[in-house]
Amino acid sequence: MLGVVVFTATLPKTGRVETERPVGTPEEKIMETTNTRSSAFIRLEDDYGANNYHPLDVVLCRGEGVWVWDVEGNKYLDFLAAYSAVNQGHAHPKIREALVEQSDKVTLTSRAFRTDQLGPLYEEMHELTGFQRMLPMNTGAEAVETAIKAARKWGYKVKGVPEGQAEILVFSGNFHGRTTTIVGFSDEAQYKDGFGPFTPGFTLLPYGDLDAVREAMNPNVVGVLIEPIQGESGIIIPPEGYLAGIAELCREHNALLMTDEIQSGLGRTGKLFAFEHEGVRPDVVIIGKALAGGFYPVSAILADDEVMGVFHPGDHGSTFGGNPLGCAVARAALRVLRDENLIENSAELGTYFLDKLRRIDSPLIKEIRGVGLWIGLELTGSARPFCEALQRKGLLCKETHENTIRFAPPLIITREELDWAFERVVELFNDPPASQETDP
Ligand SMILES: Cc1ncc(COP(=O)(O)O)c(C=O)c1O
Repeated sequence: MLGVVVFTATLPKTGRVETERPVGTPEEKIMETTNTRSSAFIRLEDDYGANNYHPLDVVLCRGEGVWVWDVEGNKYLDFLAAYSAVNQGHAHPKIREALVEQSDKVTLTSRAFRTDQLGPLYEEMHELTGFQRMLPMNTGAEAVETAIKAARKWGYKVKGVPEGQAEILVFSGNFHGRTTTIVGFSDEAQYKDGFGPFTPGFTLLPYGDLDAVREAMNPNVVGVLIEPIQGESGIIIPPEGYLAGIAELCREHNALLMTDEIQSGLGRTGKLFAFEHEGVRPDVVIIGKALAGGFYPVSAILADDEVMGVFHPGDHGSTFGGNPLGCAVARAALRVLRDENLIENSAELGTYFLDKLRRIDSPLIKEIRGVGLWIGLELTGSARPFCEALQRKGLLCKETHENTIRFAPPLIITREELDWAFERVVELFNDPPASQETDP
């Protein structure tokens, strides 16, 4: 029998137990029973898609705020928020309005022409972050590639590194995306297996070890690429002073500090950017995901003139990067972040939820780590059966790196909704899934 805290909460009228069946859809007429509705969609994915993900078998068809619905009509609390891309909640009405309004005007011009959306986004981003310039792309990985190109070019043109010798320091456990260059400096064997040869010029160091960075610094180092807190690795928080120490070393050795805030940024950790927890100001900040509130892929790098000045027409670009639809959506997503105090909510409710989780006394929990509404619950064994059990209770989470459950709800979540989620987590550890093994 596991010890758990005694907890009572006022339950919102929501959850897995309550079903809402959409009526009259063509699919409903074709698929008669509850099980065939989901399984038919799952079969289509399995039969015709590439097998490159291992999703939970829940087939979603609607989202609103922190809630999502499956094709059976079951309602779930989304505790993943599309890996922090939906920080503003599903289908936020203000972002949707901007999307619809802009799509009635013009959606894509390419950067061959100017639009009335790009300049205002640049200006609003500058006002929000203080960085002089922004270079927009689409996916996170593209923005990371952009940062790598910026650092290399800065290294050759400004720092004076000999051609072809630029070196970028990266870290164990990193996750910066899936392009061939980026997976080439991952230390996750599966991400690389079968995808070589890889781009040279990256030196992998142990995450959290400042001495290793000090020792690796040399005149050819043009930049340090780092997640201030590692998300995919399981919400790994490095020792206090680590990022500040790296910032100092970068200054000493004239190298760029580049923080990947694609997952940690835009409020997730209770600050606009995670680097603020260490009081540093990077030279390049990489953002994506929540920049467009889940409606559209928009990513970017932010930097000042010295770095961004290395780009000249033709050096870099993207057909879709900076398109008017994406810009309008990003502008609305940033307004929502600010106007609805989502960063403050993340800080306050993150602490509230983390405190509650830490009161769960279970031998199956190895460690609980978190900053803001970004929490990793590391178990002594596989997290997958726990995520599946939470799914059955109406709470959608996903395991990361085998043993960790990541909690990252939309930042619009309320205290009552967190209480509701907490009750499910407590139930889970009171009656854990059978396949969980405890380490001796
Ligand atoms: C820190 C970080 N960098 C980069 C990426 C890649 O972003 P995308 O999947 O949009 O290419 C991710 C995605 O999870 C991420 O968490």
